[in-house]
Amino acid sequence: MTDQFQYRDGHLHVEDVAIADIADRVGTPVYVYSSAMLRRQYRVFAMALASACPDVESLICYSVKANSNLAIIRTLARMGAGVDVVSEGELRRGLAAGVPPEKIVFSGVGKTRTEMAFALQAGIRQFNVESEPELEALSETAAGLGLTAAITIRVNPDVDALTHAKISTGKAENKFGIPIGRARDVYARAAKLPGIRVIGVDLHIGSQLTDLSPFEKAFARAADLVVALRDDGHEINTIDLGGGLGIPYSPDAVPPSPDAYAAIVSRTVGHLGATLIFEPGRMIVGNAGALLSRVIYVKDGDGRTFVILDSAMNDLVRPAMYDAVHEIRTERQPQGEMIRADLVGPICESTDTFARDCDMPSVAAGDTLCFMGAGAYGAVMASTYNTRLLVPEVLVDGDRFAVVRARQTFDDLLGLDAIPSWLEQDS
Ligand code: LLP
Repeated sequence: MTDQFQYRDGHLHVEDVAIADIADRVGTPVYVYSSAMLRRQYRVFAMALASACPDVESLICYSVKANSNLAIIRTLARMGAGVDVVSEGELRRGLAAGVPPEKIVFSGVGKTRTEMAFALQAGIRQFNVESEPELEALSETAAGLGLTAAITIRVNPDVDALTHAKISTGKAENKFGIPIGRARDVYARAAKLPGIRVIGVDLHIGSQLTDLSPFEKAFARAADLVVALRDDGHEINTIDLGGGLGIPYSPDAVPPSPDAYAAIVSRTVGHLGATLIFEPGRMIVGNAGALLSRVIYVKDGDGRTFVILDSAMNDLVRPAMYDAVHEIRTERQPQGEMIRADLVGPICESTDTFARDCDMPSVAAGDTLCFMGAGAYGAVMASTYNTRLLVPEVLVDGDRFAVVRARQTFDDLLGLDAIPSWLEQDS
């Protein structure tokens, strides 16, 4: 079964656990993840690659930014996944979850020297370098520690990912990588630097790609570059193809096929004899998670109905930030009565709206509902705006579940602030 969020006896379950149980025991809002779905998605991706490119060595480095909960990383690490990280914090999470350093790749446009030193000492597999100044800083840091950094250089292939502008990264105007046309010069430079060992080429063109043709274009450009770099005398044994494979956000959306993606990989870079690295995030965890919330009020406005929830844009920012639409499922199986409503949170901003003019099953105060497809870029982008507590997370596995991030307390949250000495006295 692909969808692990199903109705049983009229009530929504995650695997064998009733979501009403989770809502009652942990409270709402809360993120809920299905282990079975996580494992399935990882397997689907790995098997697509294994069958399209049987003779190619590859490593799937789950992109931790999509969902960095230690329990999620550990679940994937147990299946053999490595991780793609973009900060010392994410690197620490990978290590804490038990990912071996030789399966960790470090991406990101703004790595600091402190972060580089930490990663070098941890012995990670590779740095994906995004600029010449970063290359120099890495060379100095590594040489200073008497260590060598294995690197790829992220090239910007100038391909339109045909996705939302805010999550597109592979066009010349984006801040990511080195223009592919300048790559040979930069590699020549890198080869001469102390503390640096060039091992490969890296690219990532964007996220939530549903049309696969941009991958084909970008990977073909990367393949040409690998050939040119080898001609120049570089030993290119790694190609990191980034992440980006999209997922369905509504029941009728047709997801891009991992097999078709793997076929593109095979025909563009499969023959080059390099180890391939993949950095999928959303595809692994997106449909494995949902945000549960409760209806606080149903308010009839001027010709509109507002369903006011206890979750808000601070818990799930994707609708406000990317105009994302997340499918809604009610805890009780819909009996047929529908309403048209705006689904909103309690935050004092008009953008705190999950859906406008949404045709949805009729709900009343106290009812629980779920935002589906919220496993990726949900909890990780949550904040405490409006001094709302950071949202907790629950992992389900079969008929058991565990709180894998506890709800913050007001003491935790207020305790982070401090009153300076000059304000300590009352007057
Ligand atoms: N590798 C790199 C270098 C990345 O920048 C990203 C995502 C990934 C891998 C993983 O991409 P995925 O497979 O998940 O598409 N917050 C946005 C998405 C931002 C993606 C940023 N980079 C959203 O909620 O849609």
